[in-house]
Amino acid sequence: MSKGRIFSAMQPSGKFHLGNYMGALENWVKLQDEYDCIFAIADLHALTSAYADTSKLPGFIHDMMLDWLSAGLDPEKNIIFVQSQVKQHAELHLLLSMMTPLSWLERVPTYKDKLQNLGDQGKDINTYGFLGYPELMTADIVLYKAGWVPVGEDQNPHLELAREIVRRFNLMYGKEVFVEPQGLMSRAAVLPGIDGRKMSKSYGNTIPFAASPDELRERVRMIVTDPARIKKTDKGHPEVCVAFKFQKLFNADEVEQIEKDCREGCIGCVACKKRLAEKMVDAMADMHVRRQEYQDKPEKIREILDEGAKKARVIAEKTMEEVREVMHLA
Ligand code: TRP
Repeated sequence: MSKGRIFSAMQPSGKFHLGNYMGALENWVKLQDEYDCIFAIADLHALTSAYADTSKLPGFIHDMMLDWLSAGLDPEKNIIFVQSQVKQHAELHLLLSMMTPLSWLERVPTYKDKLQNLGDQGKDINTYGFLGYPELMTADIVLYKAGWVPVGEDQNPHLELAREIVRRFNLMYGKEVFVEPQGLMSRAAVLPGIDGRKMSKSYGNTIPFAASPDELRERVRMIVTDPARIKKTDKGHPEVCVAFKFQKLFNADEVEQIEKDCREGCIGCVACKKRLAEKMVDAMADMHVRRQEYQDKPEKIREILDEGAKKARVIAEKTMEEVREVMHLA
């Protein structure tokens, strides 16, 4: 029995790392068995800030799908598609934009923040499209009448806006066409970068989700440890050690012993990280196999996404028929 319909999406930015996986995708994989799930690769959202050079987009979409499939998202259980391939998203975005007060969009807290941040990075996002980012998210969700949206807390203001737009639309056109979506927050563990800062490609401290077992071992070897430890017999301080944070997440069986040995200076950082690396390689073994299965088969990935778009279109078109009807556009 499904607990209801979920919609979620991610922007294909070509930077997917292990921290992103643990922050969101891992949770999606769990949800696919309990809910009726629709997942989109939000390429139109990517255009709201990366509109100038779009040449890498097809590659990013392919890579994102490869990441999703290797993580274990099952195209048999879910509808998975590329947002721009279901034109109803663009149509609904346009229609909703007609009745959304400008002030609602301008007051979304992420709007001014991002305008500032991305502006500092030399991107001009003083555009109509960027302001409409959460409007497009709203269209994505309500098109499928999804009741649940698994997102991080940072997306809460966007969901609040979506609910306001739903209420306004339903009231204005006198019919409960749309459903108010609720956030489905997960208490995802936050994985730090290998230098202890937030994991981010711009810091060069990520573990790429696509890393092979050997690349994974190499990245783990570079994780920062207690700087006060020079010799392996020096007593360690796990509370300041980045590798220890990883041990807690990936090596629950051994973490207590490792903590004890570290504090007593009985295990060196190299050995500690070797054990961590093997646990992580094991944890990702199935994902690695699935990745290889799809790696050199872009036609297979295309086929899955085409199938997904077909299924999505049926649901989306049904909603659009209702929308056009109440707006006298039928
Ligand atoms: N804004 C989301 C992100 O950057 C991606 C997204 C697009 C999304 N449309 C959505 C998330 C609809 C949830 C629902 O991660």
